[in-house]
Amino acid sequence: MHADDTTEWWKDGIVYQVYPRSFQDTTGTGIGDLDGIRARLPHLVALGVDAVWISPIYPSPMKDAGYDITDYRGIEPLFGSLESFARLAEAIHAQGMKLLLDLVPSHSSDQHPWFLESRASRDNPRRDWYVWRDAGPDGGPPSNWIAEFGGAAWEWDDATGQYYLHLYLTEQPALNWRNPELRAAIYDAMRTWFDRGVDGFRVDAVEHLAPDAQGRDNPPVPDWRFEMGPARSLDRRYSAHQPDGFDVVREMRRVADAYPERVLLGEAYGTLDEVMRYYGEALDGFHLPFNFHLIEAPWDPVGLADFIDTYEAALPPGAWPNWVLGNHDRDRVATRWGPQAARCAAMLLLTLRGTPTLWQGDELGMVNETVPPEMLQDPWAVNNPGTGLGRDPVRIPMPWDDGPGRGFTTGTPWLPLSSVASAEAQAEDPGSMLVLYRHLVHLRRNHAALRRGSYARLHADASVLAYAREHDGETLRVALNFSDREVPLPCEGTPLFSTIAARDLKDVTQLLPNEGLILTP
Ligand code: GLC
Repeated sequence: MHADDTTEWWKDGIVYQVYPRSFQDTTGTGIGDLDGIRARLPHLVALGVDAVWISPIYPSPMKDAGYDITDYRGIEPLFGSLESFARLAEAIHAQGMKLLLDLVPSHSSDQHPWFLESRASRDNPRRDWYVWRDAGPDGGPPSNWIAEFGGAAWEWDDATGQYYLHLYLTEQPALNWRNPELRAAIYDAMRTWFDRGVDGFRVDAVEHLAPDAQGRDNPPVPDWRFEMGPARSLDRRYSAHQPDGFDVVREMRRVADAYPERVLLGEAYGTLDEVMRYYGEALDGFHLPFNFHLIEAPWDPVGLADFIDTYEAALPPGAWPNWVLGNHDRDRVATRWGPQAARCAAMLLLTLRGTPTLWQGDELGMVNETVPPEMLQDPWAVNNPGTGLGRDPVRIPMPWDDGPGRGFTTGTPWLPLSSVASAEAQAEDPGSMLVLYRHLVHLRRNHAALRRGSYARLHADASVLAYAREHDGETLRVALNFSDREVPLPCEGTPLFSTIAARDLKDVTQLLPNEGLILTP
């Protein structure tokens, strides 16, 4: 840890997202597990990251790859046990790293005992732990809300004659955050993990906490396009980012604040204003509401420069920024922006002001892979055949070596294997993406200007973005060439590091095609 102030390790640190199903299998099931994460910690140590966020590892029927939970305090047997979790937590802490888990508060599995009770009868004490409504006046669903994976967000329950809300799959009923007992139950689960040594949570799908109590209809979006996903055909005015949801976030923060140095990262897709609200007016919400702009934006220097300025200006006083290039839900950066741009994008992510989150495999330049129809796993893909929707192509297992199963599994992998060079091969290749990431992480760790420095735009045009980071008398300049032509260096300075491994750093006046440079004045 390099924090100037150790209670705020999350400002200096780099977060790495592990997708447990695809990291390392040690049991031959073709699905990764907790012992596998432990076995591969040397990879994370060599990379130099500070915190590991693990996507859900709780008991789950796996209808949505673990984001459908049946026990908020347990471990899914496929992944291991509380004992293997304790061994993993100990090993992570022994390396001086932090451990973050995924908290999924907006919905449970329909197989969770809470929901089984809730749907058992209208007068069950847990009825109100989920969102139940009578049919609308026409006998249909109570509102026009659409689930994120398509179809109506309301499911009719014949036995009790009401609809329940699910903003994702029908198997993911929405928890009712207006019920104090439900809130207390989730907070207890948080405390259980804090007591087990977890350093924080990435909190899932928070935009959907406490949707409009009256269940008002969402208005249509006139310029909706299919790729935006089914739920975005409506303006989610009443189903997402509701006032009561922000109150819940503040309450969660109080639970975390009862423990030292815990951190909450929030997943909310929304406008910049909506995302900023999750910091809380008194910075009493999430420490870091994810900033997904780099995932959603085109690779365009002026557009990005403008966004960085807008984002910096929109931050509430004292709020700490953060940046994300990819995750288990979105196309890989090397596919979105292309393999050349991905090298500059790595430099961008690791030199901007704010905590970076790395998505597993981006450090290997992993790309979206084609997944044949018979291997599709993601319900979003399975339920929308032939549409190209779905997230399996970005969840491909890590290619550790060139042996059978790419070192990921001795069994049949749950998704096809990757086409990119292995971690083992890349570690030996100075021109590889892995070596580039290691250098960039190292530079960030060694330069307070990159970790803590101010940000100032130096230049942006159709090809180039350049900015300065300054802290305590140290200034570093970053110049990124987004084009595949040579361009004049947009700022002065002595080159310190290039994304092009074999680059001669003497007498540099031009940026090479797709090159990123770090310079000292
Ligand atoms: C979040 C997760 C995604 C999941 C959804 C429902 O967006 O990142 O993977 O499907 O929530 O839990």
